[in-house]
Amino acid sequence: MSEKLLHIAGLGKAFGGNVVLDGVDMAVARGEIVGLLGPNGSGKSTLLNIATGFEALDRGSIVFDGTPIEKLAAHRIVGRGIARTFQLPSMPTRMSVMEVAMAASTARHGVWDTLLRPAPARQAEQAARDKAARLLRELLLEPVRDLPAAALSGGQKKLLGIVCALMGDPQMLMLDEPTAGVHPNLRNDIVQALLRLNAAGMTLVVVEHDMHFIQSLCTRCVVLDRGRIVASCRPDELASNERVAEAYLGAAAHQRAEAAQEAFA
Ligand SMILES: Nc1ncnc2c1ncn2[C@@H]1O[C@H](COP(=O)(O)OP(=O)(O)O)[C@@H](O)[C@H]1O
Ligand SMILES: [Mg+2]
Repeated sequence: MSEKLLHIAGLGKAFGGNVVLDGVDMAVARGEIVGLLGPNGSGKSTLLNIATGFEALDRGSIVFDGTPIEKLAAHRIVGRGIARTFQLPSMPTRMSVMEVAMAASTARHGVWDTLLRPAPARQAEQAARDKAARLLRELLLEPVRDLPAAALSGGQKKLLGIVCALMGDPQMLMLDEPTAGVHPNLRNDIVQALLRLNAAGMTLVVVEHDMHFIQSLCTRCVVLDRGRIVASCRPDELASNERVAEAYLGAAAHQRAEAAQEAFA
């Protein structure tokens, strides 16, 4: 199916004088697993932040599942079906892993709800508990479900971030560097978990640097360089794509030049 689930057009964003996204056009079809690549500072996280309502855009449009979402607040975008994870997840110190997952549920009820409509509220709570337990199992967090979330390793926090994102049954999941800081053994487990989600119908957009991860997961890669898209190709075409090489080599040369300037300053 070639139906576009997400359609970003003419997206522009600057922080002060720093133009970070410069007319980005990007479409994601239902069922795709798109890798969003590019050197550090090329605008990947900013693109995710804007698509999920955590940052406002300066210009352009974003349509998700047929509805413009660029003016919606983050929680409304979640309600429309886009969930996300963060590059650096932070966890509440006093809650258990299970409690954090439960807190991310959309089936939350206040005390009045529980008192006034006890049966539906309890049913919803039980359904959320069952869902949290299933997702914790699928993302390998079952053994640590009663530990404080803050005690998890960096990699486990990333997995818990995915669990939380999935509690609302999104149509699309956007992941910001899901394997950065994650033990290599765990990376393949994350790939397998994401492939299972995709097989069940979820569309994925993944910001990632690990090439092995990208190759084993993505159906297509989009490469950003200084706020512009310079390539859209299959993962196995990345290595031979000149624009991609230029983006990474250019960034490396730029960083070397900056380092040299600092060293001689
Ligand atoms: N909230 C912000 N305020 C000011 N500058 C920002 C902010 N967020 C990102 N930037 C800048 O935007 C550029 C792109 O950042 P980012 O989107 O995080 O890149 P990437 O995720 O590709 O490494 C960087 O120069 C960064 O310093
Ligand atoms: Mg980033």
